[in-house]
Amino acid sequence: MKRIGVLTGGGDAAGMNAAVRAAVRTIWHHGAEAVGINRGWQGLAEADARVLKKGDVSGILHQGGTILRTFRYPEFAEETKDGPVGKALKKLKLDGMVVIGGDGSFRGADKLMTDYDLPVVGVPATIDNDINGTDRSIGYDTALNIAVDAVDKIKDTASSHGRIFVIEVMGRNYGLLAAQVAMATGAEETLVPEIPYDIDDICRNMETAYKNGKYHALIIVAEGAGRASQITFDINSRLNRPVRMVVLGHIQRGGAPSAFDRILATRMTHHATELLIDGKAGVMVGIVANKFKTSSLRKKAGADNAVVRQNWELAQLLG
Ligand code: F6P
Repeated sequence: MKRIGVLTGGGDAAGMNAAVRAAVRTIWHHGAEAVGINRGWQGLAEADARVLKKGDVSGILHQGGTILRTFRYPEFAEETKDGPVGKALKKLKLDGMVVIGGDGSFRGADKLMTDYDLPVVGVPATIDNDINGTDRSIGYDTALNIAVDAVDKIKDTASSHGRIFVIEVMGRNYGLLAAQVAMATGAEETLVPEIPYDIDDICRNMETAYKNGKYHALIIVAEGAGRASQITFDINSRLNRPVRMVVLGHIQRGGAPSAFDRILATRMTHHATELLIDGKAGVMVGIVANKFKTSSLRKKAGADNAVVRQNWELAQLLG
């Protein structure tokens, strides 16, 4: 392969830059040209790309976000070969591509393989950790640590003032981040999209806990399980106790990647790029039980709900 594209797609995740660096330097190691696709899938559709030169990936290992930038482009799902992406690929003359992103990006990657005959490998990067075929996706560990740090701080205020805090963390469709934040902070209640809840039961539990001597309550809510504002309103209208809410939002996505995410990104992306150059495309590279695992780029969504449930049950039991 002479020219290999590198693309970051979906929501940014801390460690994406470490992945870009690993892909680019592995490509160079094999004497090929690394082409950075700017602005993710949208940039690809506009053939917005640059050949990466020595120094372009220096000093980025510890930086959050993605130097290539990212932009969602759902229109690609409906595109035919003579659409914008097809035209861009003719112009860019790529021999292969490394796609770093989440399930949406892997749907795009699979389409590049099947409809456009472009060899592609995938590397999982999303703070949701909702990708089948890997224990961890790039960005999850950093997001988890940021959220835990924030909740620890909030807990100080909750304990000092005897307040109930409703804290919303990211996770539209998958509640693992919420469940593990709750477990790591000893939260009293955890609401995840996978498990239905009854706000009256939650209020009753909290009232009993206060009566038994608790002096605060932390409720961790995955954004897909309900909005913190609504839950705060619902509790306020049932209990005569001070309730506050915090939406952690995008602070969970940015910032310097943890050492774990840097290493994960570096190992998975180097391996994926080697496979691409070896002619073994069409796969995503994950790490399962500390060993590389390749799986088809297809059907990456629908991560295991049982994992969320196990973590949720333990957080609830001990909280
Ligand atoms: O998929 C990553 C994620 O951060 C989700 O947890 C969240 O629901 C979503 O992206 C938010 O997306 P956006 O930044 O486009 O609002």
